[in-house]
Amino acid sequence: MKNIVAIILAAGRGTRMKSELPKVLHRVNSKPLLGFVIDALEGAGIKKKILVVGYRGKDVRKQFPGIAAVAQTKLLGSGDAVKKASALLSKFKGNILIIYGDIPFIDKDAIKKLIKEHKKNKSSCTLLAATVKKSSGYGRIFRNETSDVVKIIEEKDASFHEKAIDEINVGCYCFNKKDLFDCLDRLKINAKKGEYYLTDIVEMLTKKGKKVTSVVCEDPTVALGVNSRLDLAEVGNIMKEKVLEKLMSKGVTIVDPNSTFIDTSADIGKDTIIYPHTVIEKDVSIGKKCKIGPFARIRVHTKLDNNVEIGNFVELVRTKVLSGTKIKHLTYLGDTEVGKNVNIGAGTITANYDGKKKHKTVIGDGVFIGVGAILISPVKVGRGAVVGAGSVVTKRKNVPPHKTVVGVPAKLLGRK
Ligand code: UD1
Ligand code: CA
Repeated sequence: MKNIVAIILAAGRGTRMKSELPKVLHRVNSKPLLGFVIDALEGAGIKKKILVVGYRGKDVRKQFPGIAAVAQTKLLGSGDAVKKASALLSKFKGNILIIYGDIPFIDKDAIKKLIKEHKKNKSSCTLLAATVKKSSGYGRIFRNETSDVVKIIEEKDASFHEKAIDEINVGCYCFNKKDLFDCLDRLKINAKKGEYYLTDIVEMLTKKGKKVTSVVCEDPTVALGVNSRLDLAEVGNIMKEKVLEKLMSKGVTIVDPNSTFIDTSADIGKDTIIYPHTVIEKDVSIGKKCKIGPFARIRVHTKLDNNVEIGNFVELVRTKVLSGTKIKHLTYLGDTEVGKNVNIGAGTITANYDGKKKHKTVIGDGVFIGVGAILISPVKVGRGAVVGAGSVVTKRKNVPPHKTVVGVPAKLLGRK
């Protein structure tokens, strides 16, 4: 998208989070709040972006290294944050989109619509609005008798009646550059909070007779801002529901959505059944007709082929499992490749970490691992081999194909 630059406000500490981590780096699923906002901007095709960072700004920059950043050293409010970014835009010609870094449900379509309407109406400012059930904490949108936006009233300054307004300011606006910059220079500090409110600019514009329009979100969850741990949990729950609904609509059975946690990045095939109390983390892919859980934890970079069965108290991380394999009880496999039609007995563990480094375990097609086996990596179990119950296969003592090993340490059966 041309002639538009986005200023992303991410300098605030997030005092209400009571955290040492900057608020925008708190995660929902595996993604920081700010990541959702940046993805939405990218989805809307906005190339030029300026990130305003402040509290622990280095940490924020580090996570989003590709984006130009400017520092707000004193956290003097959203108006001041925009001022800091405006210093980089003296030569820029076009519209300025301002967005807050703590609204993770904002989506590309809402942003696109906002810009489209802004251009169509030739407004000075177009703001994103939503009608919500709980408006407390948000800036309320005050309209006149003809429903035109007059001003935004912040919670702290709202009267009893104004607090009853259920239309709120989402925290995403499109401004005509000149009108915005004129107002930024004249913005006064809010005495009650000791901050420069960006939202005061709306009234400054309407008083000058400038055009302020709005786009109202159809889905009010788009407006949800995260200010506290409670908000974070609420957003997490809604996001979780959305992820599960999407998977179910694609043909995945989720027996108990309440107790199932699946990361937004997960890819799961048709007719797979996820049993209760299962956790599926980042970058996991699961094929068709698998059975997962109950009480399974599938961790990062794990890939399961079709017809795989993962049962209770099984943890898999950075592990690949081919079709027809069963890992049904009390097992940990880390950095492991498991072939086709393998049976992993209850209580099997791959010891992938030697205290310094992680190593790989490779288990061939058709292998049978007896209960309670320990495989110390790096190690390979050849195709069709058998590892006896309770055996400890020590590192680099690869098991030859179609042979049986038993004991501690494991030795070929029949040899002393
Ligand atoms: C703000 C809006 C409110 C709106 C709500 C939507 C103002 C004055 N109020 O309130 O109208 O309904 O968001 O969620 O803008 N930030 C900085 N520097 C600062 C202060 C804040 O970069 O000095 C950033 C924060 O990191 C955050 C964003 O601006 O990403 C919003 O700040 P926050 O304190 O969360 O504002 P709200 O009280 O939620
Ligand atoms: Ca906020």
